[in-house]
Amino acid sequence: MITYRVGGPLDLDEVTELYRASTLGERRPVDEAVRMEAMLRHANLTVTAWEGPLLVGIARSLSDFLYVTYLADLAVRLSHQRQGIGRELIAATRREAPQAMIVLLAAPKAVDYYPRIGFSRHDSAWVLRPEANIR
Ligand SMILES: CC(C)(COP(=O)(O)OP(=O)(O)OC[C@H]1O[C@@H](n2cnc3c(N)ncnc32)[C@H](O)[C@@H]1OP(=O)(O)O)[C@@H](O)C(=O)NCCC(=O)NCCS
Repeated sequence: MITYRVGGPLDLDEVTELYRASTLGERRPVDEAVRMEAMLRHANLTVTAWEGPLLVGIARSLSDFLYVTYLADLAVRLSHQRQGIGRELIAATRREAPQAMIVLLAAPKAVDYYPRIGFSRHDSAWVLRPEANIR
């Protein structure tokens, strides 16, 4: 049975291990504990999925709760994927801020996932990378 929890406290090592076990770790700074700790500490809306004591999924967001929720990371343990956990993590995130739209950047492996569960593509998404100059 999978249970869902809103908020912390969350253990940094457990979360980092989950990122690796989901493959999202390939695209997140999992070897930099300071950054991972900051990512966890400053996220103000986090939903986790548990199978008993095992952390199996996470949705990590930054939300103002009334206009927009930025879903920064969604990860489900490989062994637990395709069981509806990702969908439920997003549903639980939305229940916390029902009036807010959810915005995200899809990882390459998940580009077909979001339209499948109801997201629509936005044609004017823009990213300013930390190394880019503002002109
Ligand atoms: C993407 C991810 C979060 C999806 O979570 P999940 O729990 O496996 O997905 P769900 O079980 O909720 O899937 C819901 C539906 O989408 C489908 N689906 C799941 N992953 C998919 C994918 N990568 N591409 C297309 N469809 C997908 C499922 O088959 C299911 O369809 P159904 O309702 O017809 O059965 C998970 O696969 C993951 O952690 N991937 C690696 C990390 C990653 O890329 N995260 C996204 C960062 S933006």
